[in-house]
Amino acid sequence: MKIEGKNYRTIWFEKNIVKIIDQTKLPHKFIIKDIKNVKDSVNAIRNMEVRGAPLIGAMAAYGLVLAILEKNDQTYLKKASEDLINSRPTAINLKWSVDRMMKKLSGVKSDKILQIALNEAIEICEEDIRFCENIGLNGLKIIEEIYNKKKDTVKILTHCNAGWLATINWGTATSPIYHAHKKGIPVHVWVDETRPRNQGANLTSFELNEEGIKNTIIADNTGGILMQRGEVDMCIVGTDRTLSNGDVCNKIGTYLKALAAYDNNIPFYVALPSSTIDWNLKDYKEIPIEERSSEELSHIEGLDENGNLNKIQIYPQKSKSMNLAFDITPAKYVTALITEKGVCDASNLGLKKLFDK
Ligand code: MRU
Repeated sequence: MKIEGKNYRTIWFEKNIVKIIDQTKLPHKFIIKDIKNVKDSVNAIRNMEVRGAPLIGAMAAYGLVLAILEKNDQTYLKKASEDLINSRPTAINLKWSVDRMMKKLSGVKSDKILQIALNEAIEICEEDIRFCENIGLNGLKIIEEIYNKKKDTVKILTHCNAGWLATINWGTATSPIYHAHKKGIPVHVWVDETRPRNQGANLTSFELNEEGIKNTIIADNTGGILMQRGEVDMCIVGTDRTLSNGDVCNKIGTYLKALAAYDNNIPFYVALPSSTIDWNLKDYKEIPIEERSSEELSHIEGLDENGNLNKIQIYPQKSKSMNLAFDITPAKYVTALITEKGVCDASNLGLKKLFDK
Protein backbone atom coordinates (compact mmCIF):
# COMPACT_ATOMS: atom_id res chain seq x y z
CA MET A 1 0.00 0.00 0.00
CA LYS A 2 1.02 3.64 -0.28
CA ILE A 3 3.02 6.10 1.74
CA GLU A 4 3.20 9.52 0.08
CA GLY A 5 1.99 7.96 -3.16
CA LYS A 6 4.72 5.29 -3.28
CA ASN A 7 3.94 1.59 -2.88
CA TYR A 8 5.65 -0.22 -0.02
CA ARG A 9 5.63 -3.53 1.74
CA THR A 10 6.42 -3.63 5.45
CA ILE A 11 9.44 -5.92 5.09
CA TRP A 12 11.81 -6.96 2.32
CA PHE A 13 15.22 -8.54 1.78
CA GLU A 14 17.98 -6.67 -0.01
CA LYS A 15 21.69 -7.53 -0.33
CA ASN A 16 21.69 -9.87 2.70
CA ILE A 17 19.93 -7.30 4.89
CA VAL A 18 16.29 -7.22 5.97
CA LYS A 19 14.63 -3.83 5.52
CA ILE A 20 11.72 -2.78 7.72
CA ILE A 21 9.68 0.35 8.23
CA ASP A 22 10.36 1.38 11.85
CA GLN A 23 6.84 1.58 13.26
CA THR A 24 7.93 3.14 16.55
CA LYS A 25 8.60 6.37 14.64
CA LEU A 26 5.39 6.53 12.58
CA PRO A 27 3.48 8.68 11.78
CA HIS A 28 5.95 11.47 12.51
CA LYS A 29 9.05 10.02 10.91
CA PHE A 30 9.34 7.54 8.05
CA ILE A 31 12.48 5.52 8.66
CA ILE A 32 13.57 2.38 6.82
CA LYS A 33 15.73 0.38 9.18
CA ASP A 34 18.34 -2.28 8.43
CA ILE A 35 18.04 -5.55 10.34
CA LYS A 36 21.37 -7.33 10.02
CA ASN A 37 21.33 -10.30 12.40
CA VAL A 38 19.24 -12.38 14.79
CA LYS A 39 19.77 -9.95 17.66
CA ASP A 40 18.40 -7.07 15.56
CA SER A 41 15.43 -9.28 14.56
CA VAL A 42 14.58 -10.18 18.16
CA ASN A 43 14.89 -6.52 19.21
CA ALA A 44 12.77 -5.31 16.30
CA ILE A 45 9.97 -7.65 17.40
CA ARG A 46 10.35 -7.02 21.15
CA ASN A 47 10.56 -3.23 20.79
CA MET A 48 7.70 -3.23 18.28
CA GLU A 49 9.64 -1.68 15.40
CA VAL A 50 7.69 -4.38 13.60
CA ARG A 51 4.41 -5.47 15.17
CA GLY A 52 1.11 -7.08 14.24
CA ALA A 53 0.76 -10.85 14.24
CA PRO A 54 1.53 -11.67 10.57
CA LEU A 55 4.40 -9.19 10.35
CA ILE A 56 6.24 -10.47 13.42
CA GLY A 57 5.90 -13.96 11.92
CA ALA A 58 7.56 -12.71 8.73
CA MET A 59 10.28 -10.92 10.71
CA ALA A 60 11.04 -14.16 12.57
CA ALA A 61 11.29 -16.07 9.27
CA TYR A 62 13.80 -13.55 7.93
CA GLY A 63 15.54 -13.63 11.33
CA LEU A 64 16.39 -17.26 10.64
CA VAL A 65 17.75 -16.36 7.21
CA LEU A 66 20.00 -13.83 8.95
CA ALA A 67 21.03 -16.48 11.50
CA ILE A 68 22.30 -18.70 8.66
CA LEU A 69 24.16 -15.78 7.14
CA GLU A 70 25.81 -15.14 10.51
CA LYS A 71 26.79 -18.73 11.17
CA ASN A 72 25.75 -21.78 9.18
CA ASP A 73 25.48 -24.00 12.23
CA GLN A 74 22.49 -26.03 13.43
CA THR A 75 23.06 -25.26 17.15
CA TYR A 76 23.11 -21.54 16.39
CA LEU A 77 19.98 -21.88 14.27
CA LYS A 78 18.12 -23.75 17.01
CA LYS A 79 19.03 -21.09 19.59
CA ALA A 80 17.96 -18.34 17.16
CA SER A 81 14.60 -20.06 16.62
CA GLU A 82 14.00 -20.17 20.39
CA ASP A 83 14.99 -16.54 20.88
CA LEU A 84 12.69 -15.47 18.06
CA ILE A 85 9.71 -17.44 19.40
CA ASN A 86 10.27 -15.95 22.86
CA SER A 87 10.54 -12.36 21.64
CA ARG A 88 6.77 -11.79 22.13
CA PRO A 89 4.41 -14.30 23.72
CA THR A 90 0.85 -13.75 22.51
CA ALA A 91 0.66 -13.79 18.71
CA ILE A 92 0.74 -17.40 17.51
CA ASN A 93 2.12 -16.38 14.09
CA LEU A 94 5.58 -16.13 15.59
CA LYS A 95 5.73 -19.80 16.55
CA TRP A 96 3.81 -20.82 13.42
CA SER A 97 6.38 -19.13 11.19
CA VAL A 98 9.49 -20.34 13.08
CA ASP A 99 8.14 -23.93 13.17
CA ARG A 100 7.46 -23.78 9.42
CA MET A 101 10.97 -22.53 8.73
CA MET A 102 12.64 -25.05 11.06
CA LYS A 103 10.76 -27.94 9.43
CA LYS A 104 12.62 -27.02 6.22
CA LEU A 105 15.95 -26.19 7.86
CA SER A 106 16.52 -28.62 10.74
CA GLY A 107 19.31 -31.04 9.96
CA VAL A 108 20.09 -29.47 6.55
CA LYS A 109 23.87 -29.35 6.35
CA SER A 110 24.35 -28.55 2.67
CA ASP A 111 25.33 -25.11 1.47
CA LYS A 112 21.85 -24.89 -0.08
CA ILE A 113 20.38 -24.10 3.37
CA LEU A 114 20.57 -20.34 2.83
CA GLN A 115 18.59 -20.52 -0.40
CA ILE A 116 16.04 -22.88 1.16
CA ALA A 117 15.57 -20.47 4.09
CA LEU A 118 15.27 -17.43 1.86
CA ASN A 119 12.74 -19.13 -0.43
CA GLU A 120 10.60 -20.13 2.55
CA ALA A 121 10.73 -16.65 4.16
CA ILE A 122 9.74 -15.11 0.82
CA GLU A 123 6.89 -17.62 0.46
CA ILE A 124 5.62 -16.84 3.98
CA CYS A 125 5.39 -13.19 2.93
CA GLU A 126 3.85 -13.88 -0.49
CA GLU A 127 1.31 -16.23 1.05
CA ASP A 128 0.35 -13.63 3.66
CA ILE A 129 -0.25 -11.09 0.90
CA ARG A 130 -2.47 -13.56 -1.01
CA PHE A 131 -4.36 -14.46 2.16
CA CYS A 132 -4.89 -10.83 3.16
CA GLU A 133 -6.11 -10.01 -0.34
CA ASN A 134 -8.63 -12.86 -0.12
CA ILE A 135 -9.74 -11.70 3.35
CA GLY A 136 -10.40 -8.35 1.67
CA LEU A 137 -12.48 -9.88 -1.10
CA ASN A 138 -14.47 -12.00 1.37
CA GLY A 139 -15.03 -9.06 3.72
CA LEU A 140 -15.95 -6.80 0.82
CA LYS A 141 -19.15 -8.83 0.30
CA ILE A 142 -20.25 -7.97 3.86
CA ILE A 143 -19.59 -4.25 3.39
CA GLU A 144 -21.31 -4.34 0.01
CA GLU A 145 -24.39 -5.95 1.53
CA ILE A 146 -24.63 -3.21 4.16
CA TYR A 147 -24.16 -0.56 1.48
CA ASN A 148 -26.82 -2.05 -0.78
CA LYS A 149 -29.34 -1.90 2.08
CA LYS A 150 -28.29 1.47 3.42
CA LYS A 151 -27.39 3.29 0.18
CA ASP A 152 -25.18 5.55 2.26
CA THR A 153 -21.68 5.64 3.75
CA VAL A 154 -20.81 2.43 5.59
CA LYS A 155 -19.46 3.34 9.04
CA ILE A 156 -16.91 0.88 10.35
CA LEU A 157 -15.19 0.79 13.73
CA THR A 158 -11.78 -0.80 14.14
CA HIS A 159 -9.40 -1.27 17.06
CA CYS A 160 -5.60 -1.25 17.17
CA ASN A 161 -3.81 -1.62 13.85
CA ALA A 162 -4.75 -4.66 11.84
CA GLY A 163 -3.85 -2.75 8.72
CA TRP A 164 -1.19 -3.34 6.08
CA LEU A 165 1.45 -2.20 8.55
CA ALA A 166 0.59 -5.22 10.73
CA THR A 167 0.97 -7.60 7.79
CA ILE A 168 3.06 -7.50 4.63
CA ASN A 169 0.42 -5.73 2.56
CA TRP A 170 -3.38 -5.09 2.57
CA GLY A 171 -3.85 -5.86 6.29
CA THR A 172 -6.51 -8.12 7.75
CA ALA A 173 -9.24 -5.87 9.22
CA THR A 174 -8.44 -3.08 6.76
CA SER A 175 -8.31 -5.24 3.64
CA PRO A 176 -12.12 -5.35 3.19
CA ILE A 177 -12.13 -1.57 3.73
CA TYR A 178 -9.44 -1.01 1.06
CA HIS A 179 -11.33 -3.27 -1.33
CA ALA A 180 -14.63 -1.46 -0.67
CA HIS A 181 -12.93 1.91 -1.25
CA LYS A 182 -11.40 0.67 -4.51
CA LYS A 183 -14.87 -0.45 -5.65
CA GLY A 184 -16.28 3.01 -4.99
CA ILE A 185 -18.33 2.11 -1.89
CA PRO A 186 -18.30 5.11 0.47
CA VAL A 187 -16.80 4.13 3.82
CA HIS A 188 -15.91 5.99 6.97
CA VAL A 189 -13.72 4.42 9.64
CA TRP A 190 -13.91 5.13 13.37
CA VAL A 191 -10.36 4.49 14.50
CA ASP A 192 -9.93 3.57 18.18
CA GLU A 193 -6.87 5.43 19.43
CA THR A 194 -5.74 2.19 21.18
CA ARG A 195 -3.91 3.23 24.31
CA PRO A 196 -1.29 2.86 25.49
CA ARG A 197 0.77 2.61 22.28
CA ASN A 198 -1.81 4.32 20.07
CA GLN A 199 -1.54 1.90 17.16
CA GLY A 200 -4.96 3.10 15.97
CA ALA A 201 -4.06 6.79 15.95
CA ASN A 202 -0.45 6.42 14.89
CA LEU A 203 -0.74 3.60 12.36
CA THR A 204 -4.32 2.85 11.26
CA SER A 205 -5.34 6.46 10.78
CA PHE A 206 -2.00 7.17 9.10
CA GLU A 207 -2.34 4.33 6.59
CA LEU A 208 -6.00 5.14 5.83
CA ASN A 209 -5.06 8.80 5.22
CA GLU A 210 -2.33 7.71 2.80
CA GLU A 211 -4.93 5.69 0.84
CA GLY A 212 -7.45 8.55 0.89
CA ILE A 213 -9.97 6.79 3.12
CA LYS A 214 -12.11 8.94 5.42
CA ASN A 215 -11.47 8.20 9.07
CA THR A 216 -11.81 9.78 12.48
CA ILE A 217 -9.72 8.92 15.54
CA ILE A 218 -11.75 8.41 18.71
CA ALA A 219 -10.70 7.82 22.30
CA ASP A 220 -11.02 4.15 23.18
CA ASN A 221 -14.07 4.79 25.35
CA THR A 222 -16.09 6.53 22.64
CA GLY A 223 -17.21 3.51 20.60
CA GLY A 224 -20.10 2.67 22.95
CA ILE A 225 -21.96 5.95 22.58
CA LEU A 226 -21.36 5.99 18.82
CA MET A 227 -22.97 2.57 18.63
CA GLN A 228 -25.94 3.75 20.71
CA ARG A 229 -26.33 6.70 18.35
CA GLY A 230 -26.45 4.46 15.27
CA GLU A 231 -23.08 5.76 14.05
CA VAL A 232 -21.49 2.32 13.62
CA ASP A 233 -22.70 -0.19 11.00
CA MET A 234 -20.11 -2.84 11.74
CA CYS A 235 -16.89 -3.50 13.62
CA ILE A 236 -13.88 -5.28 12.12
CA VAL A 237 -10.81 -6.11 14.16
CA GLY A 238 -7.77 -8.34 13.74
CA THR A 239 -6.47 -11.02 16.07
CA ASP A 240 -3.19 -12.29 17.46
CA ARG A 241 -4.45 -15.76 18.22
CA THR A 242 -7.84 -17.33 17.57
CA LEU A 243 -8.63 -20.65 19.17
CA SER A 244 -10.32 -23.45 17.24
CA ASN A 245 -13.52 -22.79 19.24
CA GLY A 246 -13.63 -19.23 17.85
CA ASP A 247 -12.43 -17.36 20.96
CA VAL A 248 -10.41 -14.36 19.84
CA CYS A 249 -7.34 -12.90 21.51
CA ASN A 250 -6.57 -9.38 20.30
CA LYS A 251 -5.29 -6.02 21.47
CA ILE A 252 -6.49 -4.96 24.91
CA GLY A 253 -9.88 -3.26 24.66
CA THR A 254 -11.25 -5.47 21.89
CA TYR A 255 -13.45 -7.37 24.36
CA LEU A 256 -15.16 -4.21 25.64
CA LYS A 257 -15.87 -3.11 22.08
CA ALA A 258 -17.38 -6.52 21.29
CA LEU A 259 -19.62 -6.28 24.37
CA ALA A 260 -20.86 -2.86 23.32
CA ALA A 261 -21.47 -4.11 19.77
CA TYR A 262 -23.40 -7.12 21.12
CA ASP A 263 -25.58 -4.89 23.30
CA ASN A 264 -26.36 -2.67 20.31
CA ASN A 265 -26.95 -5.45 17.77
CA ILE A 266 -24.01 -4.35 15.67
CA PRO A 267 -22.12 -7.07 13.78
CA PHE A 268 -18.63 -7.67 15.15
CA TYR A 269 -16.24 -9.33 12.66
CA VAL A 270 -12.73 -10.64 13.19
CA ALA A 271 -10.45 -10.84 10.15
CA LEU A 272 -7.59 -13.33 10.16
CA PRO A 273 -5.32 -15.43 8.01
CA SER A 274 -5.18 -19.13 8.99
CA SER A 275 -1.65 -18.59 10.34
CA THR A 276 -3.34 -16.91 13.33
CA ILE A 277 -5.40 -19.95 14.31
CA ASP A 278 -4.11 -21.91 17.29
CA TRP A 279 -5.43 -25.43 16.66
CA ASN A 280 -3.85 -26.78 19.86
CA LEU A 281 -4.94 -24.71 22.86
CA LYS A 282 -8.43 -25.55 24.05
CA ASP A 283 -8.95 -22.92 26.73
CA TYR A 284 -8.37 -19.20 26.32
CA LYS A 285 -7.01 -19.05 29.88
CA GLU A 286 -3.92 -20.86 28.56
CA ILE A 287 -3.06 -18.07 26.10
CA PRO A 288 0.00 -16.19 27.38
CA ILE A 289 -1.05 -12.56 27.69
CA GLU A 290 1.83 -10.17 27.23
CA GLU A 291 2.39 -7.68 30.01
CA ARG A 292 4.47 -4.79 28.75
CA SER A 293 6.42 -2.07 30.53
CA SER A 294 4.31 0.32 32.61
CA GLU A 295 6.30 3.13 30.99
CA GLU A 296 4.13 2.67 27.89
CA LEU A 297 1.26 4.00 30.03
CA SER A 298 3.02 6.58 32.14
CA HIS A 299 4.95 8.24 29.29
CA ILE A 300 3.88 9.50 25.91
CA GLU A 301 5.88 10.40 22.81
CA GLY A 302 5.03 13.00 20.21
CA LEU A 303 6.29 16.00 18.27
CA ASP A 304 7.22 19.09 20.25
CA GLU A 305 6.80 22.62 18.93
CA ASN A 306 10.18 22.39 17.18
CA GLY A 307 9.16 19.25 15.32
CA ASN A 308 11.37 16.98 17.43
CA LEU A 309 10.15 13.63 18.78
CA ASN A 310 10.01 13.87 22.55
CA LYS A 311 8.87 11.62 25.36
CA ILE A 312 7.21 13.07 28.45
CA GLN A 313 5.83 11.62 31.66
CA ILE A 314 2.05 12.02 32.10
CA TYR A 315 1.35 10.06 35.33
CA PRO A 316 2.17 11.03 38.91
CA GLN A 317 5.71 9.91 39.63
CA LYS A 318 4.63 7.78 42.61
CA SER A 319 1.73 5.97 40.85
CA LYS A 320 1.92 2.37 39.82
CA SER A 321 0.44 1.24 36.53
CA MET A 322 -0.23 -2.09 34.83
CA ASN A 323 -0.04 -2.76 31.13
CA LEU A 324 -1.73 -5.94 29.87
CA ALA A 325 -1.44 -5.89 26.08
CA PHE A 326 -4.20 -8.30 24.96
CA ASP A 327 -7.61 -9.57 25.98
CA ILE A 328 -10.01 -12.31 24.96
CA THR A 329 -13.31 -11.88 23.18
CA PRO A 330 -15.34 -15.06 23.66
CA ALA A 331 -16.71 -16.54 20.43
CA LYS A 332 -20.32 -15.78 21.40
CA TYR A 333 -19.67 -12.07 20.82
CA VAL A 334 -18.11 -12.59 17.39
CA THR A 335 -20.60 -12.42 14.49
CA ALA A 336 -18.23 -14.23 12.11
CA LEU A 337 -14.59 -14.79 11.22
CA ILE A 338 -13.38 -13.44 7.87
CA THR A 339 -10.58 -15.69 6.60
CA GLU A 340 -8.74 -16.22 3.33
CA LYS A 341 -10.99 -19.19 2.63
CA GLY A 342 -14.30 -17.49 3.34
CA VAL A 343 -16.48 -16.21 6.16
CA CYS A 344 -17.44 -18.64 8.91
CA ASP A 345 -19.05 -18.91 12.32
CA ALA A 346 -16.68 -18.30 15.20
CA SER A 347 -16.88 -21.92 16.26
CA ASN A 348 -15.12 -25.23 15.85
CA LEU A 349 -17.65 -26.34 13.29
CA GLY A 350 -17.37 -23.07 11.37
CA LEU A 351 -13.59 -23.26 11.20
CA LYS A 352 -13.60 -26.95 10.36
CA LYS A 353 -15.89 -26.33 7.39
CA LEU A 354 -13.25 -24.03 5.90
CA PHE A 355 -10.06 -25.69 7.09
CA ASP A 356 -9.40 -29.34 6.81
CA LYS A 357 -8.11 -29.88 10.37
O1 MRU B 1 0.78 -5.22 20.06
P1 MRU B 1 0.53 -5.21 18.58
O2 MRU B 1 0.54 -3.84 18.00
O3 MRU B 1 1.45 -6.16 17.85
O4 MRU B 1 -0.93 -5.79 18.45
C1 MRU B 1 -1.47 -5.99 17.19
C2 MRU B 1 -2.88 -6.38 17.20
O5 MRU B 1 -3.47 -6.61 18.24
C3 MRU B 1 -3.51 -6.60 15.88
O6 MRU B 1 -4.87 -6.31 15.94
C4 MRU B 1 -3.32 -8.06 15.51
O7 MRU B 1 -1.97 -8.41 15.54
C5 MRU B 1 -3.86 -8.39 14.20
S1 MRU B 1 -2.75 -7.83 12.97
C6 MRU B 1 -3.28 -8.13 11.43
